[in-house]
Amino acid sequence: MKTALCKQLGCQLPIFAFSHCRDVVVAVTKAGGFGVLGAATFSPEQLETELRWIDEHVQGKPYGVDVIIPSAYDKQAESASADDLLAMIPPQHRQFMDDLLEQAGVPALPAGERERITREIVEGRGSMTPQGARRLLDVALTHPQVKMVVSALGTPPTDVIDRLRQHGVVVGAMCGKAEHAVRHMQAGVEVIVAQGTEAGGHTGEIATMVLVPQVVQACGDRAAVLAAGGIAHGSQIAAALALGAQGVWCGTVWLGTRESELDPFEKQVLFETRTEDAVRRKARTGKTVRMIRSQLSEAWEHPDAPPYLPTPLQGILYNEAHARVVRARRRELYSFPAGQVVGMMSEESSVRDVIHSMQMQYLEALERLQALSCE
Ligand SMILES: Cc1cc2nc3c(=O)[nH]c(=O)nc-3n(C[C@H](O)[C@H](O)[C@H](O)COP(=O)(O)O)c2cc1C
Repeated sequence: MKTALCKQLGCQLPIFAFSHCRDVVVAVTKAGGFGVLGAATFSPEQLETELRWIDEHVQGKPYGVDVIIPSAYDKQAESASADDLLAMIPPQHRQFMDDLLEQAGVPALPAGERERITREIVEGRGSMTPQGARRLLDVALTHPQVKMVVSALGTPPTDVIDRLRQHGVVVGAMCGKAEHAVRHMQAGVEVIVAQGTEAGGHTGEIATMVLVPQVVQACGDRAAVLAAGGIAHGSQIAAALALGAQGVWCGTVWLGTRESELDPFEKQVLFETRTEDAVRRKARTGKTVRMIRSQLSEAWEHPDAPPYLPTPLQGILYNEAHARVVRARRRELYSFPAGQVVGMMSEESSVRDVIHSMQMQYLEALERLQALSCE
């Protein structure tokens, strides 16, 4: 299973794990995969704390960091303070969200908690601009075990790519179309994460099965390709490698693990969600995110709903509401980014068990293929 990219990065398995949770990143990395910490919702100070903890627990192994560098965002928000960011959310939008929650009987957060959560969200969401991402990279580059940085929502700017390469860090970028991959490669990106529409989080329209061979062909030997979106089983890893990918990049599958950041209520919603209820909606960030369908996600689709705010403002508004919904344990209002594989997940397991199962299923898939080729 060890591919050329594994050798370059120093991991045993071509299983790359995207997670916002440091425990998942550590557990995957210790199990032989390559954990990547999603840093976009952290402030630089929080990121420093997370990376220091990962360094201490990862037994000297390499791992990665993922940032969001959007090509389209609210330019004013980029230099705004936390208070300014909050003030930039129009009263009409705030009222719409408050009314929704009030009518559904969801209590407001207690005063102290509301301020703490709001501050955390605002500081984190401020990192989702090019300048915000640069501040996160300043932190990541002081941690030598960070061997790869991946960016999402656009081609990373030249200064970012140059800086990462000067530090010997492998540069990756997400893509949802072969044209994006070509643009990334021309800018100097070395690893392309080809993410199909099945994926949880920001996602495009092309399915992984169609996208990966297109991106592999476009990249030739100029960049390694990772297949993302719809991968939670070893047979899907075999398929991805057969399509020419050098590994798989998974996100949703880790949400159901013991190590995941989700609490028991949230995991239970996840295990009850069917594949067809992982839908693409803009309510969470203002851009299309595949997430669990809920009354809250659907309310924003209504013709009377206000227009979506640009990044990062919609995210600030949505996440405050999300915190209220989680606290009130309201399943019918709960939406969280999740891909179509959510329908394949039914109970909690550990990261180690997920990786072990994936390896076994991969071998079974190879045996099935082997048997065919011998007939
Ligand atoms: C909860 C969640 C949050 C995500 N946030 C990000 C992000 O901040 N940056 C990013 O590059 N990808 C993000 N993604 C997408 C993942 O990196 C990955 O491509 C995707 O989860 C793969 O598809 P899968 O969900 O079918 O495993 C997120 C995915 C999930 C499930």
